[in-house]
Amino acid sequence: MMRILVTGAAGFIGSHLALRLVREGHEVVAVDNLSTGRRENIPTGVEFLQLDLAASDFVKALPGGRFDAVCHLAAQSSGEISGEDPVYDVRANALSTLQLSRWCLRNRTPRFLYASSMAVYGDPARLPVAETDACSPLSFYGISKMSSEHFLRLAAREGLSTTSFRMFSVYGPGQNLENLRQGMVSIYMAYMLKGQEVPVKGSLQRFRDFIYIDDVVEAWLKALIAPSTKSPVYNLGSGRGTTVQELLSTLKWALQLPPDYPVKELPGSRSDQFGLRANIQRAGSELDWRPTTDLVSGLQRMSEWALSMLEGIR
Ligand SMILES: NC(=O)c1ccc[n+]([C@@H]2O[C@H](COP(=O)([O-])OP(=O)(O)OC[C@H]3O[C@@H](n4cnc5c(N)ncnc54)[C@H](O)[C@@H]3O)[C@@H](O)[C@H]2O)c1
Repeated sequence: MMRILVTGAAGFIGSHLALRLVREGHEVVAVDNLSTGRRENIPTGVEFLQLDLAASDFVKALPGGRFDAVCHLAAQSSGEISGEDPVYDVRANALSTLQLSRWCLRNRTPRFLYASSMAVYGDPARLPVAETDACSPLSFYGISKMSSEHFLRLAAREGLSTTSFRMFSVYGPGQNLENLRQGMVSIYMAYMLKGQEVPVKGSLQRFRDFIYIDDVVEAWLKALIAPSTKSPVYNLGSGRGTTVQELLSTLKWALQLPPDYPVKELPGSRSDQFGLRANIQRAGSELDWRPTTDLVSGLQRMSEWALSMLEGIR
C-alpha cells in the first residue's frame, strides 16, 4: 500500500486515477482548487484539500507525513485560456510543478509522475512524433508543460524519480461537458447533446490522436508501481490519427444523430496544432503498455455515459 498525493483529483483524468488507486488499496490525498473540477468527483474515503497551486506558497498547506509518490495533474488545462492569460497559465502549470518537485526533494518523497502534453511538440516535422523529436510548443500552455518537464529533469539529477506523460487527446466518461474551453471530444459532444450547431474552430482536416481514459490510467499505474521508469518521458496516445471530420461523424453515429447534423467551421487559432499522431513504441517496450480501446468503442461508451447523465437530469 502506498500513500499518494494526487493533484487535480477533482478533474477528469485525476479523478479516474484517484479512484483506481483507491480500488487498488492505496491511500490517496487529493488536492484541487475546484476551478474546473468538481468536489463530487473525489472518490469517497479520500482526504481532500482545496488548495490553489497557482499560489506562490501553496506547499506550506500540504499535509505532513511521508508520501510514496506525487501524481501531479492539476492544471489550467486549456491551450485557448493560456493565450488569454499566460501569467495565470505559468503559475498554475509551471510554478506549481517547480514548487511541488522542490517540496518532494525536501520531504524525501521518492517518486513524481507528471501530466505533460502533446502540446510540447507544436507541429512536429515528422509523424508519428516520438519522444526524442524536437519540441517547439505553439501555445503558452505547451511552454508551461515543457518547462515543467525541465524542472523535473533537474529534480531528477538531485534524486527525485520522475516520469512525465505526454498525453495526447484523452477522452471518456467523466469528461467535463460543461467546460467548453478544453477537450475536443467533450466540447463537440456537449453541443450535440444540447441540440445546437457544433462550432469548430479551425479546419475539419486537422487531426488528433485520441486515447481512451482507462488506457491512460493503466499507463500511470504501470509506471507508479515501479520505483522508476527507464525513460523520463512517455507519449500516451493510440498511435492513430483521426481528422476532426472523422471524429464528428463518429460522434454523430454514437449519439444517433443524422449525418447532416449541423457543424459550423470558424477561423482557427494561431496556437492550435494542425495534426498529431503519437509514436507509442517507448511506452510499449518499456512499460509493457498498449491501448486496448479503439475510438469507436470508446466514443460509444462515452455517449452511453453522457446520455444516461442527461436522463438523470430530466
Ligand atoms: N485531457 C487531455 O486530453 C489532456 C491531454 C494532455 C495533458 N493533459 C493534462 O492532464 C491533466 C488533467 O487534465 P484533465 O483533462 O483532467 O483536466 P481538468 O481540467 O478536468 O482537471 C484539472 C484539474 O486541476 C484543477 N486545477 C486547475 N488549476 C488548479 C490550481 N491552480 N490549483 C489546484 N487545482 C487546480 C481543476 O479544478 C481540475 O480539477 C492536466 O495537467 C492537463 O494539462 C490533459
